[in-house]
Amino acid sequence: MEQLSNQIKIRRPDDWHLHLRDGATLSAVLPFTAKVFKRAIVMPNLQPPITSIKAASEYRQRISDSTPRGTDFEPLITAYLTDDFSSKELEKGYVENIFFAAKLYPANVTTNSSSGVTDLSKVDNIFSLMEDIGMPLLIHGEVTDKNIDIFDREAIFIEKYLKPLMHNHPKLRIVLEHITTIQAIDFVEKSGPNIAATITPHHLHINRNDMFRGGLRSDFYCLPVAKRENHRIALRNAATSGKSCFFLGTDSAPHPRYLKESSCSCAGIFNSPFAIESYAEVFDEEGALENLESFSSEFGASFYKLPLNIDSITLARKDHFVTKSYEFLDEHNNKESVVPFHAGEKLRWSVLQDTNF
Ligand code: NCD
Ligand code: ZN
Repeated sequence: MEQLSNQIKIRRPDDWHLHLRDGATLSAVLPFTAKVFKRAIVMPNLQPPITSIKAASEYRQRISDSTPRGTDFEPLITAYLTDDFSSKELEKGYVENIFFAAKLYPANVTTNSSSGVTDLSKVDNIFSLMEDIGMPLLIHGEVTDKNIDIFDREAIFIEKYLKPLMHNHPKLRIVLEHITTIQAIDFVEKSGPNIAATITPHHLHINRNDMFRGGLRSDFYCLPVAKRENHRIALRNAATSGKSCFFLGTDSAPHPRYLKESSCSCAGIFNSPFAIESYAEVFDEEGALENLESFSSEFGASFYKLPLNIDSITLARKDHFVTKSYEFLDEHNNKESVVPFHAGEKLRWSVLQDTNF
């Protein structure tokens, strides 16, 4: 990393948790990621979900077809675990480099998760296989019991399911995705080296009050839901700490504006247009710009045993305003819009266009 007073040059980052969707949305959102990030782990919660080698290869091809010319973005595709996922299919897909990892959604935990796992014991053989072959398990770590308060669902998942899972499968390599609580931070810190966690930009910027600021603001509704301020502060400390168990995963999750604004709004925040700038702002505010590069561009690759990127990007201290919404045409030629994170706000860091790759 090179740091001048108003500029930093860092190794090119990767996004270790991303929703690219499909069809017209995929084409509309992918350029934002591809212009900055070299690789991304792409989430499999499409409709229908990615549950076979065929579906994964076809999805990878559609992503490749939508990748803007002149960029060398590399998608890493994940398998969506279901109660009856075939071990043979998973192993073959992993060995053949089609599935990079497998994603565990407890059934009905979040957007497009109704085909997820209803009971962890049903996929215990899959966990044993993954442990044997070294395939990473990515977890949406929340319980789904409606009687449990939504703000407690991550902490209870850790106690009730994650601890026993790690006990029974000590060699399984796990990433606890988009963590939001002090409990998750503490658990990941003390349970290494086979577990790590991703942290989103939005959970570093917002707390649960932002969803209710002057009215009901569904643009700030995502899962896991943002927590109290003390959790946000702890997340900022964890992300900027220089500890290798925490790394970048945007969880950018676009939903059309009409679905976000519905009386039953979808969970998900679309942050890919200015994700690295959003993280840079946090690291700057915390006086930890020297740790931005390892969080964004090194710890994830090391955990996943991938080579570090060799090219770089340059960020400059330069104010700009974030677009209020992005418009594009859907498959039926209807106008669709998505509202980005930080819409209408000023950000103080910009990626310089002379990015070297
Ligand atoms: C994600 C989505 O929309 O696919 N939503 C979200 O709030 N983060 C799913 C997920 O990662 O939970
Ligand atoms: Zn996600």
